[in-house]
Amino acid sequence: MDNKKIIVFDTTLRDGEQAAGFRLGSEEKLEIAHQLAKLRVDVIEAGFPISSDEDFKAVQLISQEIDGPAIAALSRAVTQDIEACAKALADAKRPRIHTGIGVSDIHIVGKFRDSKYGTALDKKKERVFQMAVEAITTAKKYVDDVEFYAEDAGRADRDYLFRVIEGVIAAGATVVNIPDTTGYTVPEQFGALIRSIRENVPNIDKAVISVHCHNDLGMATINTLTGVKNGAQQVECTINGIGERAGNASLEEVVMSMHVRRDYFGLDTDIDIKELYQTSQMVARRFGIPVPPNKAVVGSNAFAHSSGIHVDGFLKSRETYEIMRPEDVGFPQSKLILTARSGRHALRHRLEGLGIKLTPEKLDKAYKRFLTIADKVQEVSSEMLVAIVEDEIPIVAERYHLEHLRVTSETGMTPTATVTIKVANELKQATSGGDGPVDATYKAINEAIGASIKLADFTIHAIASGADTLGEVTVKIRDGDDVIIGRGSSTDIIEASAKAYIDGLNKLASRKGA
Ligand code: KIV
Ligand code: ZN
Repeated sequence: MDNKKIIVFDTTLRDGEQAAGFRLGSEEKLEIAHQLAKLRVDVIEAGFPISSDEDFKAVQLISQEIDGPAIAALSRAVTQDIEACAKALADAKRPRIHTGIGVSDIHIVGKFRDSKYGTALDKKKERVFQMAVEAITTAKKYVDDVEFYAEDAGRADRDYLFRVIEGVIAAGATVVNIPDTTGYTVPEQFGALIRSIRENVPNIDKAVISVHCHNDLGMATINTLTGVKNGAQQVECTINGIGERAGNASLEEVVMSMHVRRDYFGLDTDIDIKELYQTSQMVARRFGIPVPPNKAVVGSNAFAHSSGIHVDGFLKSRETYEIMRPEDVGFPQSKLILTARSGRHALRHRLEGLGIKLTPEKLDKAYKRFLTIADKVQEVSSEMLVAIVEDEIPIVAERYHLEHLRVTSETGMTPTATVTIKVANELKQATSGGDGPVDATYKAINEAIGASIKLADFTIHAIASGADTLGEVTVKIRDGDDVIIGRGSSTDIIEASAKAYIDGLNKLASRKGA
């Protein structure tokens, strides 16, 4: 008998983004959406259009450009939100509006305090029921595919939950999402909740049951799996498990559990598991949230065997200590070492192995930079290559370009930086002192381009290859309410810092339409 197919709904760009504490630019979201389509997720939740212009734009762009997965947009059970979703999704081939409302007594009492919702709990619950049904009716005017989320279902009164679900399905909901919003339930309870919905909601066969679990007690993955074991047909996950607070169920863990343990679950997905590592890396870089080394499936140590007994067993027979192979999930396997003597062809081959396809002109640009780095570090690792490509082929148009940087720093002296920045074919120069060489550089850049940007965060990471390293700097810059990530790499960490800052400024300019 064929395994049952589970629908994979990815919410990295919506619930995942809530973890970042800032909004990704629409170009970055589009880049991730392309990768999610390559991963073959069934649904991409692209954003929450009413929440900001940038999110609206991201949903619109993804709807226009992405083929394959259905594109979902989130709304509260409010007409204005639903209309924003409908507008943003207008060009999607398979649009889905994801609307819903809090259904636990805690949410209803806490969120609907106003007496216009009624004063007694029963009256408020009645009003929430009506709002849920009305939201589906409104969304159905725009799209056929409407998903309802019963927020905080994990803590809701069961009979009320059954009634709401029956009501929204009768109004046309095609999917009912049962979120454990606070990550409160334990697997047996969550499984029983899904089973009870199947057994007690009379029209449940007219909709797909979806599970959406949070990781507050570290149980998002197991709760999701227990949900499907008990009859849910859709899983909602994020790449690397990023999301609100402790995050969401991690897509790679949920998918690989079903894959590796097909014997137990009897379930399949359409995910192209070879794309998991690449997707994980892209999300980590774009969100500025590194993957912990011990992260299941995609962490750098996930397949590293170090203790003597393990290594010995592994070398005799892989299966002794390995339940899946790194190449299955797309860990780069190439043993080809790239050095300054490697030609364009070797570079292109390695980049393609990393899922990066470049036009001949872009390959040329990357190759030139590769040669300068290879001269300094001897061997160029895959991680370095990704950083080089990101540096040389930025995701947004380059309004600002670092032409030259000179920094002097000496013990007991105030460091000084002089920068030359190319702005639309004009060269702007400035010199500034600062608390340190990086501070002086950022002040000089601000002065050269007349900006007053604030640095919100700065991290530096060494991408090592043998004894040689490439420094990669990630900055978060703040402009009013906007926070943007910039990234730059170089063998010189002050230059990497300047590049990261300028990358952030370019993204900010692109967001402002400059
Ligand atoms: O956790 C949650 O309840 C959600 C809903 C908005 C789907 O993210
Ligand atoms: Zn959530």
